[in-house]
Amino acid sequence: MNILLTGGAGYIGSHTFIALREAGFEPVILDNFANSHPVVLERLERITGRPVTLERGDVLDTPWVEAVLRRHQPAGVVHFAGDKAVGESVANPLKYFHNNIGGAVSLLRAMAAVFADGSAPALPTLVFSSSATVYGDPASVPITEDFPRSHTNPYGHSKLVIEDMLSALRVASPAWRIGVLRYFNPAGAHPSGLIGEDPADIPNNLMPYVTQVAVGQRPHVNVFGGDYPTPDGTGVRDYIHVQDLAAGHVAALQALLTKGESFTVNLGTGRGVSVLEAVRAVEKASGRLVPYVIAPRRAGDVAQCYADPSLAKRLLGWEAKHTLEQMCADAWRWQSGNPNGYRG
Ligand code: NAD
Ligand code: UFG
Repeated sequence: MNILLTGGAGYIGSHTFIALREAGFEPVILDNFANSHPVVLERLERITGRPVTLERGDVLDTPWVEAVLRRHQPAGVVHFAGDKAVGESVANPLKYFHNNIGGAVSLLRAMAAVFADGSAPALPTLVFSSSATVYGDPASVPITEDFPRSHTNPYGHSKLVIEDMLSALRVASPAWRIGVLRYFNPAGAHPSGLIGEDPADIPNNLMPYVTQVAVGQRPHVNVFGGDYPTPDGTGVRDYIHVQDLAAGHVAALQALLTKGESFTVNLGTGRGVSVLEAVRAVEKASGRLVPYVIAPRRAGDVAQCYADPSLAKRLLGWEAKHTLEQMCADAWRWQSGNPNGYRG
């Protein structure tokens, strides 16, 4: 059973590729390598022991995406492709509206066209990468899926608009089976140490920044804010192992394909971890000191954000299994074995 992964060469897509293969699916990657490196394909072949099918191109190119769908006849599509840097989205909002919202529209139109003309027998089945960012500044924690949604930057806005588009599509065309996954904070890497997160520039996210400090590429971590109303004054997040996230996609696809009911679920652990706890966990995993300085708060950050993951357990039979220690050990194995990521 083929599954198309748009953005499948990226951080979460590449881990999901392996999990899908292990579960007996045949994933096909569609990617333009805007934020990934073709070397990942060789690594995926090494880990899974079989060739990887790649469709290299842009999800914005609707006729080409239609041709890809006709060629591979996927039973489902996972839509990872998009841009994800919050700061960049503030500086260049049109890039985000174009690639994220435009990319989703393009993919959905291609799926609708192929379904309408009968050239793909499967019902249109989609898993979408949404984000906890759609909860804005939550009034309380843990966060359940019925919390009000808002946005504080164009990246978050793009996710919210896509979620709304998917709801409208379900109303208009009940044949669509759609799973919206709201990821909390993905971290860690495949236990082989062969694939992991490979930020093109200075990492925006905490975990890759901390491991780069541990490996000696950066002098210290800037802890954005030491005066939040949290136990140690630093920001609290729900870090989830990318392997758990990958398993969540397999569970989501299986649920859509067997039960046919659409859903929106949080993918998180339910456990809040502070910046200082994360720093200490990487120190322990790496055996290195991780110096830090308390810096001013980062604009747009919230004090606490962690999931109530019980709906995903109820609907998908999925729950996160990895600990923070495993996440840091795997992130460290990847970072120390590949200090320059896929660029050698
Ligand atoms: P990533 O940048 O590693 O992967 C995205 C992939 O999409 C890249 O390989 C990139 O080359 C590709 N891509 C981008 N635009 C494309 C286009 N127009 N056509 C074809 N390919 C294109 O990001 P990731 O961390 O793997 O995130 C995957 C998805 O999950 C994104 O939609 C992101 O917004 C969402 N998400 C990520 C996080 C996170 O912290 N990593 C959190 C919540 C949600
Ligand atoms: N932080 C630092 N120093 C850094 C980087 C981050 O102290 O160098 C702190 C932040 O202030 C925050 C925590 O570490 O308290 C986590 O920050 P990240 O940037 O790693 O993650 P965010 O929670 O801000 O955002 C991430 C993704 C978003 C996504 C969101 C929810 O970047 O795209 O998770 O899923 F929307």
